Amino acid sequence: MRVTKFLLALVPLLVQGQLSGRVGPLTSHASKSSKKTCSVLDHGAKADKATDIGPALVSAFVACKAGGTVHIPVGDYAMKTWVSLTGGSAWALQLDGTIHRTGAAGGNMIFIGNTNDFEFFSSTGKGAVQGNGYQIHAQGSRTGARILRLNRVTNFSVHDVVLVDAPAFHFTMDTCTDGEVYNMAIRGADWGGLDGIDVWSHNIWIHDVMVTNKDECVTVKSPSKNLLIENIYCNWSGGCALGSLGANTAISLVHYRNVYTQNSNQMLMIKSNGGSGSVSDVIFENFIGHTNAYSLDVDQYWSSMSAVAGTGIKITNATFRNWKGSEANGSQRGPVRVLCADGAPCTNINIEDFAMWTESGSKQLYTCRSAYGSGMCLKGGGSGSYAATTSTVSSGPAGYSVATMKGDVKSSFGTTVSIPVPPIPTEFFPGVAPYSRLAGS
Ligand SMILES: *[C@@H]1O[C@H](CO)[C@@H](O)[C@H](O)[C@H]1NC(C)=O
Ligand SMILES: *[C@@H]1O[C@H](CO)[C@@H](O)[C@H](O)[C@H]1NC(C)=O
Ligand SMILES: *[C@@H]1O[C@H](CO)[C@@H](O)[C@H](O)[C@H]1NC(C)=O
Ligand SMILES: *[C@@H]1O[C@H](CO)[C@@H](O)[C@H](O)[C@H]1NC(C)=O
Repeated sequence: MRVTKFLLALVPLLVQGQLSGRVGPLTSHASKSSKKTCSVLDHGAKADKATDIGPALVSAFVACKAGGTVHIPVGDYAMKTWVSLTGGSAWALQLDGTIHRTGAAGGNMIFIGNTNDFEFFSSTGKGAVQGNGYQIHAQGSRTGARILRLNRVTNFSVHDVVLVDAPAFHFTMDTCTDGEVYNMAIRGADWGGLDGIDVWSHNIWIHDVMVTNKDECVTVKSPSKNLLIENIYCNWSGGCALGSLGANTAISLVHYRNVYTQNSNQMLMIKSNGGSGSVSDVIFENFIGHTNAYSLDVDQYWSSMSAVAGTGIKITNATFRNWKGSEANGSQRGPVRVLCADGAPCTNINIEDFAMWTESGSKQLYTCRSAYGSGMCLKGGGSGSYAATTSTVSSGPAGYSVATMKGDVKSSFGTTVSIPVPPIPTEFFPGVAPYSRLAGS
């Protein structure tokens, strides 16, 4: 997007943070469209909410994959068969209509692979994929498709599209490079396994995204390097995380900032059980939380994961700065839990400017284990393991009270009824304007 490129060129240090270079498509969608536009309507699609758009989308892709824009105009389309759009270059996918899932297969409804210079966007900010996951979830099952997966895509962006009610995950980006994801609303059911965005990639900027679900909000997996993730609104979710992490973990230079989380499992979790490798040089700053179960939660003995081989993942040089707000019940689940592996103690962990307080009761706990650094219950310097130590705090720290977003969802969407397609919000963190204007605004 032009504004973004302009900003990157003008103030690279300010905007880029942890990135290693430019992100986004190499050519604009306007120039792709003027080269060639392939409307799915000319390839057999019908906006009748009944005809399978799958074959038409594949056919339009084949016609435009060497440079051009595949256009899905305004209207309601059914998708019965999934599409694998691989090997394209200098192409864009413009989704201005709504795709409704009708097929039952697993896999990925839309798979983009081995592609360079790619853009998936809506020109109106209203393009959406309605996964109709409730039809499957109501049967007690979480089988079925992811909505969107990008694999080995370089120089790309995904923006201004809405993904709703995935049967399984919503959006996975793996083994990609130099990408930008922004202005998105993702809304799923109130259940685990319905992740918002999962990323393991290199040099990716994810910003201005809202997620509602009950699993990952925007989560980093291994291997990943040079990720900047900011202005994230976990509007009733599982919360953001690094993990789950296993053998040969390699995550470094990840920067989360301006993350607002309410009614979620956690504000940020680093989760593993055994494993090897490292997480290093990571920053988590400007976090606001309300009514979450966990807040800052490093758990290298995570009980929801079976232990994997290895003595633990080494976490080093991790900074948690400017965390404010309140947790649901601080004596049950304290706002600071840094439980590191005894076989690989955490070092250089810094908790700074951290003020959170409990919403019920009158005390909260800070717990640390085999963790070194500064702040809260962390031990200074040192090496070697130590058993969990817990300190109890019985008055709210100064400055914990912070803004709530006025749009906070007050109850979940459950798992059994159709989930409406939301508008993309105009704000993702209190008082912080999105980087790019919403398409169509
Ligand atoms: C992505 O763009 C950069 C220019 O920023 C270019 O050097 C690189 O080769 C591109 N990647 C691929 C796989 O073409
Ligand atoms: C710690 O990580 C930050 C950024 O993530 C980096 O700027 C800094 O140089 C690192 N410090 C050390 C001692 O490696
Ligand atoms: C908070 O947690 C404590 C300790 O587990 C429990 O005794 C208390 O009932 C909880 N309060 C609420 C309101 O759930
Ligand atoms: C948060 O989610 C709820 C329910 O989806 C929605 O009503 C509210 O508008 C969302 N907030 C924003 C800012 O979009």
